[in-house]
Amino acid sequence: MSTATAERSKTIKPPKVKDQPLLIGGKWLDSVSGKTFATTNPATGETICQVAEGDKADVDLAVKAARKAFEEGPWPKMNASERGRLLNKLADLIEQHREELAALETLDNGKPYRDSYHADLPLTIKCYRYYAGWADKIHGKTIPVEGPFFCYTRHEPLGVVGQIIPWNFPLLMQAWKWGPALATGCTIVLKPAEQTPLTALRVAQLAQEAGFPDGVINVVPGFGPTAGAAISGHPDIDKVAFTGEHTTGQIIMEAAARSNLKRVSLELGGKSPNVVFADADIDAAVEGAYFGLFFNQGQCCCAGSRLFVEEKVHDQFVEKMLKKAKSRRVGDPFDMATEQGPQVSQEQFDRVMGFIDAGKKDGAKLLCGGKRSGDKGYFIEPTVFDDVQDDMKIAREEIFGPVMNILKFKDVNEVIQRGNRTNFGLAAAVWTKDVTKAHRLAKDLRAGTVWVNCYDVFDAAAPFGGFKMSGFGRELGEYALELYTEVKTVYVNLQ
Ligand code: NAI
Ligand code: MG
Repeated sequence: MSTATAERSKTIKPPKVKDQPLLIGGKWLDSVSGKTFATTNPATGETICQVAEGDKADVDLAVKAARKAFEEGPWPKMNASERGRLLNKLADLIEQHREELAALETLDNGKPYRDSYHADLPLTIKCYRYYAGWADKIHGKTIPVEGPFFCYTRHEPLGVVGQIIPWNFPLLMQAWKWGPALATGCTIVLKPAEQTPLTALRVAQLAQEAGFPDGVINVVPGFGPTAGAAISGHPDIDKVAFTGEHTTGQIIMEAAARSNLKRVSLELGGKSPNVVFADADIDAAVEGAYFGLFFNQGQCCCAGSRLFVEEKVHDQFVEKMLKKAKSRRVGDPFDMATEQGPQVSQEQFDRVMGFIDAGKKDGAKLLCGGKRSGDKGYFIEPTVFDDVQDDMKIAREEIFGPVMNILKFKDVNEVIQRGNRTNFGLAAAVWTKDVTKAHRLAKDLRAGTVWVNCYDVFDAAAPFGGFKMSGFGRELGEYALELYTEVKTVYVNLQ
């Protein structure tokens, strides 16, 4: 047996989890109200454990602890290189607990263990290491101004930052937010998604073990309209970073504006065009489009959910795609042979099924799937719609599920125009062997990331974020440091 085959024949044991407190000022506490909420296993619908339910009172305490740590504790006096050392230590600890964290992520989110282990964990670890490297390389400029003045800038940590993350990549979204915030010297109040609080709490424990001072990291699990709203509307939080639905982004931005004009960065999903030209390597395009849509149960902000296929190769492309979609293995996420697990929650299951109904009603051609898979948990069959038209609901709104929409096109100008006819602009992709066409689309498609002959390539060093209603601000890479720093200008009179 090859290693890969041996690995696929394994089934991992789901971990046992105790009830979870929240973390404020270095202490693990019950919520002020004493309330808890259940987090469920989406593969079975059963409760995993109870989690302390944070609300405004807990957020207030967390902000006080974060403010104190920012102004008085060891954190502001610490050498930047020491912050980098702590981030590296956290990365090491996550690496040492890779199997445990991958299993916990799979239990709480439903994603296949082989994805948690081979994708989420390595990307998370690399993200912390990348920002560990930045900690002592964040510096300003000296500027030749007029007059007898020495002028320089300082890039100072922004302060206390609130971070609200979603459930689709819990560990990774935490890393994208914590990496640059900790490297720059901010302090944090994090609210994980109510569907998936477990890995955030475990990583917070590891951060304590790594030696981050009390109050630098605070984690308040809870719901959006309560704990989340308390963060975005808090007068003593300097910035809120959010990933999730665009309508939630609008609520958060409004609350941020009204409370104290705190800084805002938003990553809000999309309806990304994936364009396959007739001159592409069709097998590679099928593979890439399949991955770019079905990966993570279709729950990706950058999913290639408008798949434009040039008419000349449409039939051939669809035939190959159908074969793959029909043979996708849906089932127990702890079975290493499983390619697709359940959707994260009953709510998301219902929402995706609603989109499938809308596709059928609007007259798109259902080629495969469309139904629930199994009789428990939130599994949905890999679904492919053909003959999708631009104005159909499934072609306009983010589905966030394993539902592929195929649209036909005839020429370059047409597909650029149609590709851009959306309020979103997170990602796009193009498949072609013609360099001119490739660069033309890379330039003309209005999206924060364009993939050429690939899909879903990510690197901690390269920025990611959206145009238009996909949000603003760039996470990852050097660009993310700007989200967590203020620029100060200093003039010194030399006469
Ligand atoms: P959501 O935007 O409501 O939730 C994301 C986070 O925001 C969670 O932590 C939630 O508790 C928090 N939140 C919700 N309401 C809030 C409020 N009023 N104030 C502050 N924080 C708040 O997304 P949801 O409802 O879980 O999923 C709905 C749809 O959103 C999905 O079907 C998908 O289309 C989209 N989505 C996009 C994501 C992305 O990566 N861009 C991630 C998750 C969802
Ligand atoms: Mg919501």
